[in-house]
Amino acid sequence: MRFHSKLPDVGTTIFTVMSRRALEEGALNIGQGFPDYPIDPRLANALIEVIGEGRNQYAPMEGVVELRERIAAKLQVSYASSFDPHTEITVTCGGTEALYDAIQAVIGPGDEAIIFDPAYDAYEPAVRLAGGRCVRLALSPPAFRFDWDEVRHAISGRTRLVIINSPQNPSCSVAGRDDLDALAAVIRDRPITVLADEVYEHVLYDGREHASVLAHAELRERSFAVFSFGKTLHATGWRVGYCVAPALLTRELRKVHQFNTFSIASPLQYAIARYLEAHPDAWTGLSGFFQAKRDLLAGRLRGSGFEPVAAAGTYFQLVDYGALSRATDIEFADRLIREAKIATIPLSPFYSAPPAMTLLRLCLAKRDATLEAAAARLCDFARRG
Ligand SMILES: Cc1ncc(COP(=O)(O)O)c(C=O)c1O
Repeated sequence: MRFHSKLPDVGTTIFTVMSRRALEEGALNIGQGFPDYPIDPRLANALIEVIGEGRNQYAPMEGVVELRERIAAKLQVSYASSFDPHTEITVTCGGTEALYDAIQAVIGPGDEAIIFDPAYDAYEPAVRLAGGRCVRLALSPPAFRFDWDEVRHAISGRTRLVIINSPQNPSCSVAGRDDLDALAAVIRDRPITVLADEVYEHVLYDGREHASVLAHAELRERSFAVFSFGKTLHATGWRVGYCVAPALLTRELRKVHQFNTFSIASPLQYAIARYLEAHPDAWTGLSGFFQAKRDLLAGRLRGSGFEPVAAAGTYFQLVDYGALSRATDIEFADRLIREAKIATIPLSPFYSAPPAMTLLRLCLAKRDATLEAAAARLCDFARRG
């Protein structure tokens, strides 16, 4: 049969490729972003309890009300703003589904979405499946700062969406309040919606505070904000996230959500609601928790040839191997898997036109012993040359 792929150039993601190579080579995988330590046992117990209580049938399409109320309470504490759990909050299958639904709700054939490279890989395929195209603007290492004049020039009559991600995976940079002001100014009086990927909202370092679109009066009115309990509760496999948006945008998002996943596993939702009710500040230690891991890993690597790049947020750390090799990041990452038995994530696949760079991404969501073992292998590799 002749079959015309809608995404002919889309292959397996770099995360899957590197994780598969790690298995083949028996390498320590500190590339892909998932914790190797257990979730809070109280969260695990809450899940067992709610299953025993019979919370096992379809949840409401928009999410169980107990969880949406907990989310509204959490948003009030985090962003000093009130959100209506009935009309402005939708529970989704991880942040990924929220991103997909928002993109399908906004983008139609011929429409454009502006995204910033290095870009998380879920954005562009969703835009293309909706019939649109991405205009990709590159942020340059090591600071990865936005150039708002460039954004202004990139906006066309077809632009419908700007996707921002802060803290940003994989650059580990964060947007400031001044960036949000600049974004609001460039889209003012235009029919452009913002999709703010804020899944790392609670992981900012060195006293930085997250600038959320939800705390920005002008942007809040025209934004979908996407969050993930996978990141916040160290439970990536639960696949529970949520989208916060004004009622008008939420209505459109739910039209997609109801025919995409319809609703999210109900015991997981009840368990998270119960856990957050008992521990309403469960996320407040996250920055400190990951900053200690960043400092441990960066401290071990500094001076080794794998030079840590300043990380402002997310649970990743970039390292620059430029002092050791001029090989491309993909070649060098493969060499590390084979020779150092360490799997990392190269940065160039996150760009449409990668600048010259020698950066690899390491994940900090690992036990200290894993980070120490990874650092030891990298230092040993660098010493052997
Ligand atoms: C920037 C970014 N957005 C969205 C997601 C997806 O979140 P989830 O695992 O909740 O689907 C991730 C996960 O790694 C991410 O790094």
